[in-house]
Amino acid sequence: MHVLLGVSSGIAIYKAVDLVSKFRKEGYETNVIMTKNAKNLIAPAVFSAVGNCNVYTDTFDVDSGWITHTELSRKASVFVVAPATANIIGKIANGIADDLLSTIAIAVPDKTPKVIVPTMNTRMYENNIVQENLEKLRKIGWYVVEPEVGHLACGEIGKGRYPENEKILEVVKFLTSKKKLKDKKVLITAGPTVESIDPVRFISNHSSGKMGYAIATVAKRLGGNVTLISGPTSLKKPYLVDEFIEVVSAEEMFNETIMRFEKTDIVIMVAAVADYKPKEVRKHKIKKQGDMVLELVRTKDILKEIGRRKSHQLIVGFAAETENIVENARKKLEEKKVDMIIANNATKVMGSDNSHAFIITRNQVVEVEGSKEEVAEKIFEFIY
Ligand code: CTP
Repeated sequence: MHVLLGVSSGIAIYKAVDLVSKFRKEGYETNVIMTKNAKNLIAPAVFSAVGNCNVYTDTFDVDSGWITHTELSRKASVFVVAPATANIIGKIANGIADDLLSTIAIAVPDKTPKVIVPTMNTRMYENNIVQENLEKLRKIGWYVVEPEVGHLACGEIGKGRYPENEKILEVVKFLTSKKKLKDKKVLITAGPTVESIDPVRFISNHSSGKMGYAIATVAKRLGGNVTLISGPTSLKKPYLVDEFIEVVSAEEMFNETIMRFEKTDIVIMVAAVADYKPKEVRKHKIKKQGDMVLELVRTKDILKEIGRRKSHQLIVGFAAETENIVENARKKLEEKKVDMIIANNATKVMGSDNSHAFIITRNQVVEVEGSKEEVAEKIFEFIY
């Protein structure tokens, strides 16, 4: 993968240094193009050292021995402009090619994914001309990563802040991945559910939500239309999912899942749904006395219910086991009438960034190991 990064003179330019570092860590080959004004803010040597890459600044540079703008644009798997000033946005949108970066923007082939990250003062960003120019770019296929709202270098608070580099990275991954799940509606549940005992106490479990969020991220990357229904977690909403629904209890998760089930193609129940909830939720805080017995009742089994209603859907369940992992998971495959169970050792993988699991279908068992995203990618290799 070859990333061509254009850097213009937004004050957020220092954040683009970290972006180059992230590209490097992902193993991407990167080339950086800086505008003349960008060089007034940061020396090209910083990008070169951090990104272990070449930095180009001049259309008429002859050192390389080739025509810089055509050669770089031809090689690029993806073209990113971050940060993008109002000036470079205007030039690209209107076909002005008067320096290396704007010339490359014209030379990059139509089929190469293109990303632009506008960052500037709010009034400049909201200016009609800038908005019109961004709209023009969207229309011809550029992916505009919207700036965030927050403190700006000028001291004002508003829209125009450079977004998180993780988001830009995710956009790059999204644009360069094969769209295996194109036109598929994918519903994923994640995290624990929380069952109230009284206004201050609850029953829950150690699920972090990481596996479900990783699956949602990968499903989106593969082109799915992704809904993530999540119990309470401390994780950030995955950047690109289409619908993100936060629930608390098993009952809420049940309702949100069933409501969407019919129009869904793939359901992946990663959530650690509570199997029991208190028989009654006390209105007031329970005062301590002697020992107490808490009466619990079963929650509805969401996976079993969608297994029962299944028509065209492909259903994947998870099994958090602590013993006889494959054997127990196989039973769930039959009992819940699902197509696949991902079984893992709950004591080892809950909360961890890595996963070790068995992908179990009716005719095979495959052991997989790696980061949660890597395991998610492997799961999708077994889907379609
Ligand atoms: N599940 C569900 N609704 C529930 C409980 C579990 O949809 N009320 C789903 C989980 O999301 C997971 C699968 O069922 O995909 C297996 O959950 P797990 O808790 O491991 O197993 P259980 O079926 O609850 O069985 P047991 O607790 O006896 O192992």
